[in-house]
Amino acid sequence: MNSAIITGMGYYVPDNIVTNEDLSKIMDTNNEWIIERTGIKERRWINNDESTSSMALEASKNAIADAGIEKSAIDFIIFATLSPDYYFPGPGVTLQKELGLDTIGALDVRNQCSGFVYALSIADQYIKTGMYENILVVGSEYHSGGLDKTTKGRGVSVIFGDGAGAAIVSKSPSAERGILSTHLHAQGEHAEELTLIGPSTRRWVPEIIDNDGKDDQAIYPYMNGTFVFKHAVTRFPQVIGEALIKNNLQSTDIDLLIPHQANLRISQFVQKKMGLSNDQVFNNIQKYGNTTAASIPIALAEAKQAGKVKEGDLICLAAFGSGFTWASALIRW
Ligand code: UT7
Repeated sequence: MNSAIITGMGYYVPDNIVTNEDLSKIMDTNNEWIIERTGIKERRWINNDESTSSMALEASKNAIADAGIEKSAIDFIIFATLSPDYYFPGPGVTLQKELGLDTIGALDVRNQCSGFVYALSIADQYIKTGMYENILVVGSEYHSGGLDKTTKGRGVSVIFGDGAGAAIVSKSPSAERGILSTHLHAQGEHAEELTLIGPSTRRWVPEIIDNDGKDDQAIYPYMNGTFVFKHAVTRFPQVIGEALIKNNLQSTDIDLLIPHQANLRISQFVQKKMGLSNDQVFNNIQKYGNTTAASIPIALAEAKQAGKVKEGDLICLAAFGSGFTWASALIRW
């Protein structure tokens, strides 16, 4: 059987930096609270001419360049996001068109913060079976337009940022290198603990308009923060442990853990629970906030650029978020 390897990484973030100080001018919040509770110093918010798919396009171009392949070598696209350009179709087809990739297939993944790891798992299976040779896997999110930027929404809106990350997943030339395993989980009973209800089939647009949308909290993301936090700090170590056990490895074998950037406190808790050193964990939430499906590929691309991901390294990706969904991937780089 083939194995799948990540041959290129790329990311894109809008140049519009929004600091905690900026947020404190539009809602009742402050730099100290945000840093103490989340570790976030600033995040990026999209410019007017940008979109989920336009950020994905830039990240994809960077990943293609990093892989050193022609874009025509890509034979499939997997696009993870919770903030698609349109209600339908999903943004995979827009990206396919923008890249000029003829009629190759484009799959959209709806698994929120775990979306990139779920998408990577799908790519891994397609490469293993020999169906495709080079798959573009993307995570991109445009959160800023849909947040409640009043004090009522501060518990959610200070956390999320915009951005995109992309990977080229290819057939590995060596059986020793590549994605060792992926582990996917979900617990739908907690779907409403972190959700955006409308617009959807539960809350159609005419109903929101009839209710004079402005006071309708269903149009903004809702998060039961403490409940989500408690589950996150349990599920992250579990799913990382599951990946290590599957491959007969220990946490000391991990060269770099890239956790989904949900909250710096969550990453630090996971680091402590797994007994990992500062050098073994990569965080960049301080600069970008929580970018959901984009957070892991942005972090992986940055870590690679910084020389922290080298051939032969054991890289662990782990995610937890809305669904609830959680997932991990262990990669021999
Ligand atoms: O990526 C998907 C997964 N998401 C996560 O994993 C996020 C998990 N949850 C969290 O990261 C944290 O729960 C939050 C960062 C969202 C919130 O932190 P917290 O320590 O759980 O705070 P809290 O919600 O318990 O709120 C504490 C206080 C409240 O005031 P009172 O009731 O104690 O007077 C809030 O109203 O902080 C207040 N508060 C704020 N104050 C200033 C909430 N948001 C803000 C804010 N600025 N932005």
